[in-house]
Amino acid sequence: MTVAPAVPAGLAKLLPAGAIIDTDRFFAEFYAPEQGQHHAFLGPNGCGKTTMAIRCLVTAREMHPAQRAVALAMKPDKGPKSDGKKATGDLTVAQLTRRYGGRIIRTFPPVRAPWQKEPTFWTFWPRHTMRPKIDRPAHTEAFGEALLHCYNQGDWWVFADEVKSLDDELGLEDEVETILTKGRSMKCGGMFATQRPANVTLYVYTESKHFFMWRVTDERAYERLAQIGGGMIDKRQCMEIMKKLRKHDCLYLYPEQGVMAVLV
Ligand SMILES: Nc1ncnc2c1ncn2[C@@H]1O[C@H](COP(=O)(O)OP(=O)(O)OP(=O)(O)O)[C@@H](O)[C@H]1O
Ligand SMILES: [Mg+2]
Repeated sequence: MTVAPAVPAGLAKLLPAGAIIDTDRFFAEFYAPEQGQHHAFLGPNGCGKTTMAIRCLVTAREMHPAQRAVALAMKPDKGPKSDGKKATGDLTVAQLTRRYGGRIIRTFPPVRAPWQKEPTFWTFWPRHTMRPKIDRPAHTEAFGEALLHCYNQGDWWVFADEVKSLDDELGLEDEVETILTKGRSMKCGGMFATQRPANVTLYVYTESKHFFMWRVTDERAYERLAQIGGGMIDKRQCMEIMKKLRKHDCLYLYPEQGVMAVLV
């Protein structure tokens, strides 16, 4: 009798130490998150966080078809008028939703007729009036309810593009922290991205299992590396690699198995 090799939880195969691998190959061969495992996407403006996170959302959902997935879109739903009538305030989210078979909805939870197929993922994108006094409380309510729904119902993957805005602008720190600290047992996996890695709640570092990190300019962000998995990674080695990354390259960490690889 042959015994199948042990597969490390959260990965289909163990990535070789110090691997530099193509992102497509990473998703095809290695990435295999367990239900409820949280992800962190940390990097500056335009490095590719949303692109990577949506790929994770789509792949995680494919691997766990009984789960549902939602991306919370926080940027304005309309772009500048000069860009044309159909322009949106977040081209990446709009394009990725189309590319991967997602569906944009303006209210949450989604309502689906019994004969309609569940899309790959939902993009929850509330309308903006472009008046902060109106939009802020409305979005606090809308995103807060969405986060709690995913948590209470369980069996959801929820991606939030800018966790710092959820915390600071909308005051949803409790909801975010609840998912990070207790979501795993509800099979509610949080995928949280931020442009400000030095300022997000520490739970992003202590509770996430999968880390995607780009080159950062704020040196304080490197200090946070010590919190990852309760000190399970070599902070100095991480820093050295991160400082050499090109704009769209990212360092992937799966601290539980000591995995550290560069995705190009
Ligand atoms: N690996 C990559 N190689 C080349 N281009 C990429 C890569 N990943 C993303 N891009 C492109 O870079 C641009 C920014 O990507 P994306 O919106 O995902 O970044 P972001 O980090 O989420 O940005 P923001 O901080 O503004 O939210 C997009 O045009 C996207 O197509
Ligand atoms: Mg983004």
